[in-house]
Amino acid sequence: MALGPELLPGEGLLIQGENLEVMKRLHSAWGSCLDFIYADPPFFSGRTFRSPSGRPRSGFQDRWPEGLDSYLAWLGERFQIMRELLADTGTMMVHLDAHAVHYVKVECDRIFGRDHFLNEIIWHYTGGGRSKRYFSRKHDNLLWYRKGKEWTFQIDAVRVPYRKSSGYARSGIVSARGKRYLPNRLGTPIDDVWDLPMVNPLSRERTGYPTQKPESLLNRLLQGCTRPGDLVADFFCGSGTTGVAAQRLARRWILCDDSPGAISICRDRIGKSAGVRLRREASPKVGKMAYRFTAAAAGAAR
Ligand SMILES: C[S@@+](CC[C@H](N)C(=O)[O-])C[C@H]1O[C@@H](n2cnc3c(N)ncnc32)[C@H](O)[C@@H]1O
Repeated sequence: MALGPELLPGEGLLIQGENLEVMKRLHSAWGSCLDFIYADPPFFSGRTFRSPSGRPRSGFQDRWPEGLDSYLAWLGERFQIMRELLADTGTMMVHLDAHAVHYVKVECDRIFGRDHFLNEIIWHYTGGGRSKRYFSRKHDNLLWYRKGKEWTFQIDAVRVPYRKSSGYARSGIVSARGKRYLPNRLGTPIDDVWDLPMVNPLSRERTGYPTQKPESLLNRLLQGCTRPGDLVADFFCGSGTTGVAAQRLARRWILCDDSPGAISICRDRIGKSAGVRLRREASPKVGKMAYRFTAAAAGAAR
């Protein structure tokens, strides 16, 4: 477990600011302190996304009038400092889709080293429109990279049930040499294609923030790639899905976004959790606007 800001499991910092600036500050304050980074940047979609009404002006622009090279340069500069922020055993998960993932993979290979690539996870979802002109695009791509030689993978935390038709699940198998292999009572190791529903319009977790990712996805990522007490960060945090999952799973966390609308949603969303208590903090270490979420009981005593 890496060190970093003083936080108990489940506690976190929410920072409003331009992430490059914020990451530089974090690095000079705490060095290579992160165990895991989830990065869900703009996808190079050419779209403008607006915050829901009733929130501070903003949302975000995913427009790159100067083209793909300018997008890759912008992202590469940020991924470079994200790599610096990772502890030697840390890993980073980059979330994209078909708009630019193939180009970003090349950029990440350059930054992390091609042999430090661990997985491409395909998140398959249903819902939304269907194309009549080509196969409907119904998946996102998540690229997982390690910084050093060792990393965390909690295989038992993310096992899934065996298929009902699996004979192995019923009675195991016996090898040609007579050795018997029994199924794992926790289920089978998950592979790299995940079927998880999107946040649908009627879902209780829906905040209205555009591009919100489902808690089930972040739960699985944090359970598989981190341990309780680890320090996780999301510098494109949007509506704060990573913070919600990290708080529930007793990971320490840092969230950042430059959109006031996103920060307002994160404050409300995470603040609603019974486990944490919100305190505004003006910390020169992380930027002017930071909020600290302390564990409810411990926070009261501070
Ligand atoms: C795809 S959304 C993230 C959605 C988020 N994962 C969720 O579940 O709600 C990308 C976010 O990155 C933020 N963003 C874009 N550029 C940024 C920058 N330079 N610094 C900080 N945040 C930025 C946007 O405001 C937006 O909220």
